[in-house]
Amino acid sequence: MKIKTFAKLVRSRQLPLAVRMPKDLSAPVYRASFLAAAATSGVLRHLAQQPLDAPALADELGLHEEEKLLGSWLDMGVRVGDLGQRGGRYRLRSRLAKGLARPDSDAYAALLEQLMRFHAPLLLDAPNMLREGRRVSIADQDGALIARSSRVLEPAVQGVVEQHVDRTAPVRLLEVGCGSGTYVRHATSLNDRLTAVAIDLQSEVVEQARVNLDKWGLSDRVEIARGDLRTYATDQKFDLVTLHNNIYYFPQGERIKVLERARSFLMPGGKLLLTTSCQGGGPGLEMLNMWCAYADFTGPLPHPETLVGQFREAGFSQVRSRRLVPGEEFRAFTGVNPFDAED
Ligand SMILES: C[S@@+](CC[C@H](N)C(=O)[O-])C[C@H]1O[C@@H](n2cnc3c(N)ncnc32)[C@H](O)[C@@H]1O
Repeated sequence: MKIKTFAKLVRSRQLPLAVRMPKDLSAPVYRASFLAAAATSGVLRHLAQQPLDAPALADELGLHEEEKLLGSWLDMGVRVGDLGQRGGRYRLRSRLAKGLARPDSDAYAALLEQLMRFHAPLLLDAPNMLREGRRVSIADQDGALIARSSRVLEPAVQGVVEQHVDRTAPVRLLEVGCGSGTYVRHATSLNDRLTAVAIDLQSEVVEQARVNLDKWGLSDRVEIARGDLRTYATDQKFDLVTLHNNIYYFPQGERIKVLERARSFLMPGGKLLLTTSCQGGGPGLEMLNMWCAYADFTGPLPHPETLVGQFREAGFSQVRSRRLVPGEEFRAFTGVNPFDAED
């Protein structure tokens, strides 16, 4: 920077902005956008196999590269430090790029895409939305992407499912808001005599779960249907009802009714297992809480003690709440349908 320009910046008091913005704001946003697109488009996966030049990569991905546009996008990836380039061939460079390229990192790739496509635009648009009285509607969300990204919580949820599935006796499980179907799959892997019904509100989510369950060879043990917990009707009674990561889809004022309804599907002595992010967590959970507040089909994340009270009001006994992730407000809540319960 020329001395004159520098002096001008100092006088105008814009120097801190001019210095800090590129490093603290622009670079992380460019990097997150680049990595989200590189993961979703398959670029990371291809470059993890071998270094490729832009035309070869375009060929692999079925893209048009005649104007060298892919090359300039890849150069941006080099500039932010996620790719390296030698002799015109690009390779993965950063730990994050290498980590996101692994097939078992799909949940994190989906989370990053969700952050860029949904969270960042909401943060950007919030004051306008308030001015115009707009809210996020269910059509604005991508159910399949959310089902994939929710899997970052898989280790914690799987762990608590393991504690509540009986390993020997036949078990009937009802999973509400099943998403990808991953937790039903995990439950079936714990007990050969477990059979399940899985429902979800959104048809595209149900379709994906159906494909998954078929692929996992579980179609004969798991019945899957589109259904809303509030209206779902069945004559069957279950030993275990599970709701993972969806209590906040119900407004606060409806939650006791929702829990009563979940209890109505249980045998006497049957258990409800609910896992959820709660109020008071880190920035990721705060963003989820904000998303829920701005949506017209959800309520806020629960306060743990309020949810425990709602379980009791809904007629559950032996209500417990337990933190599943050290230092984070992600919790499991359980309650038992008493033997002397009124339906
Ligand atoms: C955040 S996703 C979680 C998916 C899955 N349980 C998981 O943890 O991976 C919440 C799911 O709950 C479903 N859902 C929301 N409200 C529902 C309702 N009233 N009845 C049934 N499913 C519902 C949504 O369609 C969505 O697939």
